[in-house]
Parts: sequence; C-alpha cells; structure tokens
Amino acid sequence: MKMKKRWEKALQNNYGTPEIALDHGKGVEVWDENGKRYLDFLGGIATNILGHAHPVIIKAVTSQVSQLSHISNLYSHLPGIELAERLQDLIGDSSARVFFCNSGAEANEAAIKISRLTGKKEIIAAIGGFHGRTFGALSITGQESKRTPFEPLLKNIKFVPFGDLEAMRKAVSKKTAMVILEPIQGENGVVVPQHGYLAGVREICDDHGALFAIDAVQTGMGRTGEWFGFESEEFQPDIVTLAKGLGGGLPLGAMITLGEKVPAFKPGEHGSTFGGNPIACAASNAAIDYLVKKNLLSSIKEHEMHLKTALSALPGVAEVRGRGLLLGIVLETDIAQKILPIAVKNGLLMNAPSSHVIRIAPALVVTKRQINEFVQLFSKSLREAQNG
Ligand SMILES: Cc1ncc(COP(=O)(O)O)c(C=O)c1O
Repeated sequence: MKMKKRWEKALQNNYGTPEIALDHGKGVEVWDENGKRYLDFLGGIATNILGHAHPVIIKAVTSQVSQLSHISNLYSHLPGIELAERLQDLIGDSSARVFFCNSGAEANEAAIKISRLTGKKEIIAAIGGFHGRTFGALSITGQESKRTPFEPLLKNIKFVPFGDLEAMRKAVSKKTAMVILEPIQGENGVVVPQHGYLAGVREICDDHGALFAIDAVQTGMGRTGEWFGFESEEFQPDIVTLAKGLGGGLPLGAMITLGEKVPAFKPGEHGSTFGGNPIACAASNAAIDYLVKKNLLSSIKEHEMHLKTALSALPGVAEVRGRGLLLGIVLETDIAQKILPIAVKNGLLMNAPSSHVIRIAPALVVTKRQINEFVQLFSKSLREAQNG
C-alpha cells in the first residue's frame, strides 16, 4: 500500500493527508517514495538550516548517541552547557540564561510562565502573529480561526495591529506583564514591520515596566542573515524564544532571558523531560559551528538580493518581501494554492501561508546554482498556473 493510504488509515487528519511521502534527502534536494526528485525550498518550514543528511549533523548525532543519549534533567551534560554558552555568545550577553525545550510552542509557554512571575497577567501580542498550538501559545496567537474552536483560552491577552506603534502605545499599561512579537510574521505571509518598530516597542515597554519578548522561532539561527532576525534594529529584548533551525533538524527549542530585570525560574517551577536532550544539543552545536566556520551568514544577503531581483521581475508577482532566506512571494492574484501542486509536478517544494503568498525558506547551505534552478522552476510553475 502507498504511504498516502497508510497515513490516512492511521494518523489524525490535523494536517490533511500529505500528497507526497518523502524518502530521503541530500542538502536542498529530496526524493519521494517513487524516486522523484524535488528541490526543497521550504526546508521543513524554515527549520533545516544545513539541509538534509549534512555530514556534520550525521557525525555529531552518531557520536553523541553512541556516547550518551538521554539522561533527564537531574544531571548536566557538556553538549547542553556548550550550547547555552554558544547562545550567550551569539546574543552577546553573558547575563543570558537559557531554558531548553523541544519546540517553538514550548519555548513560548516558558516565556508566558516567566511573565507571570512579574506578578502581572496581561500579555500583548500582534494580530496575525503565530506562536504555537499549545494552550498558552495559542492564546497569544493573533489568528482567530486557530483560537476559536478551542476557547476559552488564557484571559488577559490583547491583540494589536502588527507594525502600528500608536496602537501599541495605547495598549501597553502598568498592567502589562509582557509584549511578544515576531520580528517578521512568518505564518501570516512573511509580513515585515517598518524599520524602527521593534525598537519603538522596546521604549514603550520600558515606559511601563513591561517585558519585551521576541519570538525568533522562525527568523532565528541565521535565516535572515542575522542570528536571530531582530539585530538590524538597535535594542535588546528581555526574552528571546527559539526552535525550528536551532536543532539543525532535530527537535529543540529554547527560551532565553536577558538582563537582570526578567524574573528567573526557581527550582521546580518549570521543566521538560526531553528539553535540551544531549543528541539535539550536539546537533545544534555542530550546526552553529558549521555556519560560523563557513561564514554562511555573509552569503544570505546576497541570496536575498538575487532572489528578490529575479522573482519580482516575473509577470504576476506584485512584490517579494521578507529578509534573507525567509521570503514571501506576493502574487497579484489569489493563485498561491493553484501554484503549489503544479510546482510539485515540476519538482519544487514550497508552501502558501495565505491565498496570495508563497513562502520560501530553503536551507542556508543553498547554492547559487540551486537558487537559479528554483527561479526557473518557480517561473515555469507560475506561468502554468496563470495559463491553466
Ligand atoms: C514564530 C513562531 N513561533 C512559534 C511557532 C511554533 O513552533 P512549533 O511548531 O515548534 O511549536 C512557530 C511555528 O511555525 C512560529 O513560526
């Protein structure tokens, strides 16, 4: 029986049934169960920073699993300590303290709990924002259709338009425990706020003694050409949450507090069995080391410029937005869902966070040749969708 039929008979339908069953990958290429090759320009949704089957990840995971695989959080281990130290270095703050978990939603749950330790309850988040599917993370997700079936959720959450400093100024008060924002709203169609917005929100939070958390789950780990996706503005958040790219393809999340004014968890206040597992931490250390050693972040801006120039020249493309290798191809008409299966037929994987936006987020190891192949396959798929 084909994998599609077997999936349907055994799994929940929360993702719908995937049309393609993938079998193996190498770098930015994957092959399905029938041996058909695809160019993977979604990268596990902005996650596989080194692509598939990268030798440094294989080596790190193999060696770690042969040495020590899981030990609970009652004991410490070198890969976890080294990773926390690397994150302190990358964030440029030795006061940073890291809590490891397994996913983006869990990282944001930890941030929500930390915010409660201020003694205040109110959280302000952005309309259109996405922070995960667990109850706390869903409560601060600014997309009504995802929240409504599961209400009642957390109380004391306010949503404001993303990018609107005046609305934020009106919303934040002495009652506000935390404001949480993505530097770029990935799931909302790669929406980028005006330069200066995040630094402005920082000032507003300071005026009222509110914490400012940056959800860098999707923008993090080099994807935008910066380590976390907010460094193009001059400010320091109080909390940064990470996942996706952090594990180099393995499940890993982190909630990082910065500075002295953020409350800290005391023993017993939070935890996770698998969070910061030695194997995931080893993969993460290897991925970060590789990005640094190869100076890969310096090529991301060049890739961005190349993609933006080539794609925005195509008939039917209104705009290409985003930063680095997190880009939204904004179409003039609502044909994003029509393009996807045509692209699959042409051997290209991407996704559509909204009816007129195609998102691409390939591995950071993508080459110029692969980017050129992508542009050619994308323009072919777009043309076919327009004519079909
Ligand atoms: C910005 C952001 N935060 C949180 C999440 C949730 O992450 P996870 O699916 O690992 O729980 C996502 C996932 O897409 C995300 O893009």
